[in-house]
Amino acid sequence: MGRPAIVVTRHLPGVPWDDLAKRFRAGDPPPEGTMPREELLARARGASGILSTLADRVDEELMDAAGPSLSVVSNFAVGVNNVDVAGATRRGIRVCNTPDVLTDATADLGFALLLSAARKVSDADRFLREGGWTGWDPFGFLGVPVAGKTLGIVGMGKIGAAVARRSRGFSMKILYRNRRRLPPSAEAELAASYRDLDPLLEESDFVVLCVPLTPETRGLISRERLGRMKRSAVLVNISRGEVVDEEAVATALAEGRLFGAGLDVFEKEPRVHPLLLSAPSAVLLPHLGSATGETREAMGRLATENLLAVLDGRDPPCPVN
Ligand code: GLV
Repeated sequence: MGRPAIVVTRHLPGVPWDDLAKRFRAGDPPPEGTMPREELLARARGASGILSTLADRVDEELMDAAGPSLSVVSNFAVGVNNVDVAGATRRGIRVCNTPDVLTDATADLGFALLLSAARKVSDADRFLREGGWTGWDPFGFLGVPVAGKTLGIVGMGKIGAAVARRSRGFSMKILYRNRRRLPPSAEAELAASYRDLDPLLEESDFVVLCVPLTPETRGLISRERLGRMKRSAVLVNISRGEVVDEEAVATALAEGRLFGAGLDVFEKEPRVHPLLLSAPSAVLLPHLGSATGETREAMGRLATENLLAVLDGRDPPCPVN
C-alpha cells in the first residue's frame, strides 16, 4: 500500500510542511492564499486527512469527493462552523480544532477593540495621518469611559472568561449570558452575574460577543436587539460575523443609536458592508483574533498533532466529535 494522501489547504505557521510531505502523499499548498474550491475538491479525492482553515468549506460535497478513505478533518481554528460536523460524524470522520492556545490572544484583541472603540482610536489615528490635526482640541474625539462600567459578555466559554478576567483591571461589573449558566463557583471566580440576553443588552455599557456560530447564534444581534442597547454603548464582536446584522450596526452608529463598535469578523469575509467603512467609532480588523506569531505557531502544531493522531490510530488532543 502506498503512502496515505492528505490535503493541507494552505501554508500555515507551525505546520511542518516538509515533514508531512515526506510521510504522506500531499501536493504543495498554493504558494499563497486559500486553495480554490475546484482544486480542493480534486485534491481531496482518496485523501485520508484534510488540514483545513476557517476559509475552507468542509461540507457534504467535499467529504463525498474525498470518499471513504477520509478519516480526519483537522481545522486550524477553534470555530468549526465551516465544517459540517454532523455530516462528518455520520461518516465516522473525526473533526478536530485548536482551542486553548488562542484564548489569551483572542481575549486580548477583544479588549483592544473595546478600548479602541471607546476612545475612537481608529478615527483619531486616521485623522492625524490624513493631516487633519491642527492643535490640541478640548472637544476632539471625546470617547466613553471604560473603568467601572458594565461589561456584558455573550458566550462565557474560555475566551469569554478570559475577557472577564481582563476587565477586572478596569473594575468593571460583569454580566454574562451563556447557553448553560455557569456553576456558582465559576460565577464567583469571575465575579459575573447571569442575565438573559435582552436585559444584558439593556444594562451593559460594553457588549463583547464570544459565542460560536451555530443555528441559535446566527443573527443573534439583530436590528431589534441592537435597539435594546444604550446609545452610549459599544459592541465588540470577536466571534463570527454572522452573529451580527452588520448593516444594522452601521446604521445604528451613523444615527447615533450606538456609540461604537469593534469588529474583528464580518458576515461575508473578506467583504465588509460599505456602510461600516464610513461609520463613526467603528474599529474594523481583518479577522485577527488569534494573530500573534506564538499563537499561530501553537495552532499549527496542535492542528498537525490532531491530524497525525487520528491517522496513527491515537486519540487526538482536541476532538470536536
Ligand atoms: C478564529 O476565528 C478561530 O476560530 O480560531
